[in-house]
Amino acid sequence: MKLTPKERALINAAVEARQRAYAPYSRFQVGAALLMRDGQVVTGVNVENASYGLTVCAERNAAAAAVNAGAGPGDVGSIAIASEAEGAAAPCGACRQVLLEFGTPDSVVLLYNLKDGKAERLTIGEL
Ligand code: THU
Repeated sequence: MKLTPKERALINAAVEARQRAYAPYSRFQVGAALLMRDGQVVTGVNVENASYGLTVCAERNAAAAAVNAGAGPGDVGSIAIASEAEGAAAPCGACRQVLLEFGTPDSVVLLYNLKDGKAERLTIGEL
């Protein structure tokens, strides 16, 4: 799939953030980058816990960072998620709901797989 330069840059931000994931239990590191409508890019990583249910996904941590950077409902334009999933990791139900709160149904979601370097493009609405 052909990516635009902006999409490529957002994926790179997610890949770079992913290195900071705290995932000692699953060893599955995820990075997310949100492009806000004002041009800011905010990132998030998954943060696990010994009590596994307290784990917070990269996407929700990125949404929290976006709010802390001034985002409100509808301010997230597009989202990149980087992982080493077989196929691409798609956000869980809780993350979809949170992303919808700060994006719109037509917000683009880029799922990037570091293993094969392939990206998939869809929208929050499609998810
Ligand atoms: N995870 C994410 O951060 N985002 C996803 O889209 C899929 C799953 C995290 C949660 C947990 O830390 C690890 O990946 C394994 O499920």
